[in-house]
Amino acid sequence: MFTIQPIETRAEAEALVAQMTLEEKASLTSGRDFWSTQPIERLGIRSIFMTDGPHGLRKATSSNFADSVPATCFPTASALASTWNVDLVREVGAALGTECQANGVQILLGPGVNMKRSPLGGRNFEYFSEDPLLAGRLAAAFIQGVQSQGVGTSLKHFAANNQEFERMSNDSIVDERTLRELYLTAFETAVREAQPWTVMCAYNKVNGTYASENTTLLHEILKREWGFEGIVVSDWGAVNDRIAGIRAGLHLEMPTSLGSSNRAIVAAVRAGDLEEARLDEVVTELLATLLRAQAEAMPATTFDTDDHHVLARRAADEAIVLLKNEGALPLDLAKTKRVAVIGAFAQSPRYQGAGSSRVRPTKLESALAALQALIGSDVQLEYAAGYAADGSSDDTSIAEAKRIAAAADVAVVFAGLPGSFESEGFDRSNIDLPDGHNRLIDAIAAAQPRTVVVLMNGSAVAMPWAGKVAAIVEAWLGGQACGSAIADVLTGRTNPSGKLSETFPHRLEDTPASLDFPGLRGEARYGEGVFVGYRYYDARKVEPLFPFGHGLSYTVFSYTAITVDATTINDVEGARVRVRVRNTGERAGQEVIQLYVRERAPRVRRPERELRAFAKVSLEPGEETEVTFALGRRDFAFWDASVHDWAVRSGKFDVFVGGSSRDLPLRLTLHVRASPVALPPLTRESLIKEFADRPWTEAVYAEIIEKAQRSFGIGGPETEPGFSREGDGAPDAEINMHEMVQALVREMPAWKIVHMSGGAISNEEFQGFLQRANQQRP
Ligand code: BGC
Repeated sequence: MFTIQPIETRAEAEALVAQMTLEEKASLTSGRDFWSTQPIERLGIRSIFMTDGPHGLRKATSSNFADSVPATCFPTASALASTWNVDLVREVGAALGTECQANGVQILLGPGVNMKRSPLGGRNFEYFSEDPLLAGRLAAAFIQGVQSQGVGTSLKHFAANNQEFERMSNDSIVDERTLRELYLTAFETAVREAQPWTVMCAYNKVNGTYASENTTLLHEILKREWGFEGIVVSDWGAVNDRIAGIRAGLHLEMPTSLGSSNRAIVAAVRAGDLEEARLDEVVTELLATLLRAQAEAMPATTFDTDDHHVLARRAADEAIVLLKNEGALPLDLAKTKRVAVIGAFAQSPRYQGAGSSRVRPTKLESALAALQALIGSDVQLEYAAGYAADGSSDDTSIAEAKRIAAAADVAVVFAGLPGSFESEGFDRSNIDLPDGHNRLIDAIAAAQPRTVVVLMNGSAVAMPWAGKVAAIVEAWLGGQACGSAIADVLTGRTNPSGKLSETFPHRLEDTPASLDFPGLRGEARYGEGVFVGYRYYDARKVEPLFPFGHGLSYTVFSYTAITVDATTINDVEGARVRVRVRNTGERAGQEVIQLYVRERAPRVRRPERELRAFAKVSLEPGEETEVTFALGRRDFAFWDASVHDWAVRSGKFDVFVGGSSRDLPLRLTLHVRASPVALPPLTRESLIKEFADRPWTEAVYAEIIEKAQRSFGIGGPETEPGFSREGDGAPDAEINMHEMVQALVREMPAWKIVHMSGGAISNEEFQGFLQRANQQRP
């Protein structure tokens, strides 16, 4: 892996910046055209070329979106994420890097790690997951792969970019804890583990400020806190106020501003509104990345399109999720004479999404042809389209498909979302398949008990017919080799090993943001907080159609043991959890072992369980393996907005391990001792209960409570006669006045005790309490 901005590159950049005019410096901070940076020939600074991404190379050959060089179209991110295979994703990244080198591209615009807040998000197919750990780990592997070839990446879209509605102006209103625990984590993991050369800031605002000029995001969090060493590139057209962007840490505006931003920068420096030293800093960092990209370029690179196609097939194979199987799969070719293949997608696959990520594939396979090739000529394949390209169907097409299905031993129906249903630029309006697809599946299921449905879609869909069919295969948008991959799984050449990277709900109304998405008049309020994806379904006890992490295999895995070095641990040292899994079935297969953690009695509402580790293992029949997961402080922590930091509370934490978020047979409990953290000093505004939260202020707290109680005329802890809750004035011994007063006092801002105690605690005395409490801080 390459590290960015080594000292000599930085020194070279500084030396070059020192020779530049103000105009030259400004000229570097925005693109020369749509895809490349501005060169400065007199100083030998060349232009570099960027292109989309993420699942293939879209190097435009004209201004037309559809014209680009042929490139391997890998499965899109939701499919890649369903492999849960970091090594495979790294390999895909390396292949992408090679294709970039061969095509003179220095930076690939991906990966995208935005969370799937709602299944309606138009670009969900381009994003990995609803879970930040899964998305972050896979993004890191992807980046490492691409950058291992000397090509940069652009981790996008930073941040809280979760919808297409009003995409260039929307303000994502997200509370601090939610931002940290959900929407920033995948970026953080990818930055810390893989140092992408660039991060692409999003179009939207985050809590009132455009991401492209957001100092909190670009400077304080990304650079200072996470140690990002690369540069920030604007999403194409995301700049609002270029000067504010320079101040906040936006290095490069894309595409070209036709010189207007450059002129504004020059004018701001001349007018004293922008310090030239700040501009120098931004240009030096930017230049260091440009120099690095130039130095790593290998124009003589070539690649074998067939090899990359084979890799695309492997990735598509592992991405396929077997959602349901009542014995219909794999196809028993010895007993099968006729297979009905139904649905136009069998012949013209839906294999990628629309928008900036659209790739021109080097080849494209249909599942129909691939299936025929795999099963040979002894088995007869009959095909009917069943529906038109737009998803509509009519009685004649359905009747024809039904006739073929009834006469066959098994029917395989290809369905999913037509291209017009999911794309960059707009969100979906529902999670339904086209009516024509649903009607077709219903009709075939009624005619043929062995009906298998194969789905091609980039994001979760509802399946009202799920109970009526014998098997369901989620093939996602599987890239150019999707046809072979589907045939591999249907025939058993590949044992499916994909697991859902997002929850499939029964209905849109069941989804976490269903009442808030996509917001109105420029604002999206993330009212569901941290309860996104399975975190929501688990907390609300909503039964999903298929849960996060779910995926079946043609073999059986048994989770046989879980152990840990010690059950009482401290949060910093963490724990090493060992898990044993055995293949008790008859075929070799791969299993994704998932580990979730829950805090038993949290003080803030936390998810029922959160994914904290995973591993994909390969097992022969009868083979058993042991996997060790290391859990650290962060795996027990939540974001404590009151101290603006990750916090762990001492207590019990359950660790669950299994093959899906809803199938976790192994469990153990850890007693975690949290190490003391530096808490901010107590102030007059602190609540009195905060004195009780800190062991070293317990004595002060006890004194305040005692005095307060005396001032209310309650001396001791004994039960005093109180008043009935019924409000009839009758004494009610159940109410403990002592406890009641204590409860009232606990919730009081500290300074109010002076007035509320009627002078029993004087102002001087109160100041003394504060002073003592803060002096005693460890
Ligand atoms: C998209 C980015 C893409 C860029 C360049 C934008 O509209 O949001 O994801 O990388 O265009 O095509």
